[in-house]
Amino acid sequence: MNIHTVATQPFDDQKPGTSGLRKKVTVFQKRNYLENFVQAIFDSLDGFEGSTLVVGGDGRFYNRQAIQVILKMAAANGFGKVMVGQGGILSTPAASCIIRKYKAFGGIILSASHNPGGPDGDFGIKYNTGNGGPAPEKVTDAIFNGTKTIEAYKILEANDVSLDDLGETQLGDMTVQVVDAVADYAELMESLFDFDAIRALIKGGTRICMDSLHAVTGPYAKDIFENRLGAPAGTVQNGVPLEDFGGGHPDPNLVYAHDLVKVMFGENAPDFGAASDGDGDRNMILGKNFFVTPSDSLAMLAANATLAPGYKSGLAGIARSMPTSAAADRVAAKLGLDCYETPTGWKFFGNLMDADKVTLCGEESFGTGSNHVREKDGLWAVLFWLNIMAARKESVEDIARAHWKEYGQNYYSRHDYEEVASEPANQLMENLRELVPTLKGKQFGSYTVEYGDDFSYTDPIDSSVSNKQGIRIGFTDGSRIIFRLSGTGTAGATLRLYLESFEGDVANQGKDPQESLAELIRIADEVAKIKEMTGRSEPTVIT
Ligand code: G1P
Ligand code: ZN
Repeated sequence: MNIHTVATQPFDDQKPGTSGLRKKVTVFQKRNYLENFVQAIFDSLDGFEGSTLVVGGDGRFYNRQAIQVILKMAAANGFGKVMVGQGGILSTPAASCIIRKYKAFGGIILSASHNPGGPDGDFGIKYNTGNGGPAPEKVTDAIFNGTKTIEAYKILEANDVSLDDLGETQLGDMTVQVVDAVADYAELMESLFDFDAIRALIKGGTRICMDSLHAVTGPYAKDIFENRLGAPAGTVQNGVPLEDFGGGHPDPNLVYAHDLVKVMFGENAPDFGAASDGDGDRNMILGKNFFVTPSDSLAMLAANATLAPGYKSGLAGIARSMPTSAAADRVAAKLGLDCYETPTGWKFFGNLMDADKVTLCGEESFGTGSNHVREKDGLWAVLFWLNIMAARKESVEDIARAHWKEYGQNYYSRHDYEEVASEPANQLMENLRELVPTLKGKQFGSYTVEYGDDFSYTDPIDSSVSNKQGIRIGFTDGSRIIFRLSGTGTAGATLRLYLESFEGDVANQGKDPQESLAELIRIADEVAKIKEMTGRSEPTVIT
């Protein structure tokens, strides 16, 4: 066996963000860049000798090359086996599923999620622990520290392994097992949802349109909807994964999933539409001419959870990220469940799920999931909605309106200012950090400030503290304005402004959120001087 120890030097930009290390492909192509990070991952771990690692990615450009490097490094570092998805493909939730099902030591997921791909696009890598979830901060900190002092990495000199044929091959002392990327995940979905009822719903004429945006969910969605659930061929559109996602932005929102939006808001629209992102963990849910905000989707899934077989005995609790609307809190209150507010990023839900404190989790950024895996899960959310529609025999819009009638509606919107200069963006946040605690009691139009702070979270399980998680301004009527800088962008800074208000009166529900939130939008600019500081007159993306 020919193991090389290769001398290397640290890079100074390998700090993992909200979900792993994300950089331009061209950065990852720098000599030793990927190798350093992978070695830093392995160096941060203890006791993996002879154990199993799961590896797969969303199929974007550089996926296959990166996997070959990781396989040879895993062999040189002493793993006993790597399970890799066929073709190098694993959606993020499927990777989580496989880590858990086969009790692997951990996994490496290659993805930049919803960021564009291709030679000039983005690439990413993250480590998931044995519970199937993103590594917690103490692990990502250790990885980052490793990247700062690394002097050498270990790699096996060997030929590339074929990723396309199922089965096992040997790489030095390590076994590489190429596994079906879809089967384990699809079986898990069948165990949670009433596939017979969904099949009957589709047979009865309910039309669905699933847009995979040329990203990883294509093969998963085709197998689940068209093969297992009997939906007609063509139900899944943009279903062939491409290395550059067909040049698109694989992000399931009203702006980037334009093909789907055209279908669902066009003439003769299907009854149900959905999209997922690059790596399959996000989802957007649409009805005929109707958009379900992700915050509402979490609340509505929670309120109807017992209709799905996997959740029929009820929920342990609900968790949402801080900027996600409080719609889920209202459901939790009514059902007598605990509701947790965590910082942005799925990794904060892991401890709560492992400790059985929560069953459902969600983020406003088109992320919903449950304790069936330790990642958010796009197709899971789609199947959950179809299960609820089948059980209630109601349309998406009927389900949403009934929900608002019972719980009230939390109007919600997020405004993103993408790729603004880092310095003024940081300054804007700094200014707010000083200003907002002084606003208590202050009147803005019809709103009175109840509190202003920079969100800090103490994990209820391990007591770890995460500070500076976003500026919050809460008003006495429950409305909120939140400011955060993105942790996943790869160019400049992205300022996110989150807006939320509450409407209990049915006559005022279901209106245009931008109009309903207009006064809060004005206040946000008045307080943060967004236009002045960023030089932008409008957000880049409104969702
Ligand atoms: C964004 C979302 C966040 C999500 C993350 C990974 O992070 O806002 O909710 O967990 O992507 O999908 P951000 O760019 O805001 O740091
Ligand atoms: Zn994603």
